Amino acid sequence: MKPQTIVVLGGTGFVGSHLVPRLHADGHSITVLTRNREQHRELGVLPRVRVVNADVHDSAALTRHLTGADAAINLVGILNERGSDGRGFHAAHVELTQTLIAACEGAGVRRLLQMSALRAGEGTSFYLKTRGEAEALVTASRLAWTLFRPSVIFGRGDGLFFRFASLLGFTPVLPLARANARFTPVYVGDVCEAFARALAHPHTAGRTYELAGPRTITLAEMVRWTAQLTDRRRWVIPLPDTLGAIQARVGEWLPGKPISRDNFRSLQLDSVATDDGLAALGIVATPMEQIVPAMLGRDVRQRRLDHARHNY
Ligand SMILES: NC(=O)c1ccc[n+]([C@@H]2O[C@H](COP(=O)([O-])OP(=O)(O)OC[C@H]3O[C@@H](n4cnc5c(N)ncnc54)[C@H](OP(=O)(O)O)[C@@H]3O)[C@@H](O)[C@H]2O)c1
Repeated sequence: MKPQTIVVLGGTGFVGSHLVPRLHADGHSITVLTRNREQHRELGVLPRVRVVNADVHDSAALTRHLTGADAAINLVGILNERGSDGRGFHAAHVELTQTLIAACEGAGVRRLLQMSALRAGEGTSFYLKTRGEAEALVTASRLAWTLFRPSVIFGRGDGLFFRFASLLGFTPVLPLARANARFTPVYVGDVCEAFARALAHPHTAGRTYELAGPRTITLAEMVRWTAQLTDRRRWVIPLPDTLGAIQARVGEWLPGKPISRDNFRSLQLDSVATDDGLAALGIVATPMEQIVPAMLGRDVRQRRLDHARHNY
């Protein structure tokens, strides 16, 4: 495969921190656009990776950064907005995608890989609705696009098992909204492999890939498994929807917004794939059991070490 020059938006987050090294290993040169370069210097240690400050919502700036590139990858996404009227989701998902498509066309970049999510365009959450609107813009464009729709993604630094582990550290009892919501968690390494293969194979243009792991699991099962793996005895209490809705409203005012009304609305839909996009790309999905115990085990060992040091 010929090495490409790639511009990544949203490349400093969880997925980006895995994807950028993966693409670098294929010989590509990568420019990561960020709102705050100082916070993400570690990505720039790779020889063919540049981390650059840019306002990705500014079409002129975006066009300038895209000029000369072979492909753009859009990983920008938010689970929570500052207000609660959907404007934040619209700006981050829809308006940014519109700006990016126009910038790609202006800069002569033909290839776009766009991250989306399973169930995009369905249900009542602003998150999924705006994801769907962004997808519609991409598929209507003249670009050689590929869309990815993952379920929740796990791996080092994720906002899933690591988030549960941290929440479980605070409380012996965890009341859980939408405890029976179902997921097919997918390994971040497999997600990155899917992006890498899409770049390598032009026939993936014009196609949408659902990305899912081999096992379906409920939210409550994931939280209980996290408690078990991190050696914590915790009581996970599934909440009926009436109480879950109240928890979501209260959660918006808590530090770190552990849950919001929009998250609650998204959780009304199972995040389960109907199509095996990984298999279509020749990737065998990695089971959670192969990654998560070792990943969280490190956390437990570190806690034990800290505890021992503290009591020394
Ligand atoms: N993680 C999952 O389980 C999961 C599941 C399904 C879909 N996805 C989607 O996959 C993508 C990557 O996920 P992730 O977990 O890596 O997310 P993440 O860690 O939150 O990173 C998202 C990146 O987007 C940029 N960003 C956020 N808000 C922005 C805004 N308003 N304007 C411009 N840039 C903004 C940030 O870059 P800077 O701060 O550097 O500017 C950030 O590094 C997202 O689109 C997400 O919705 C993730």
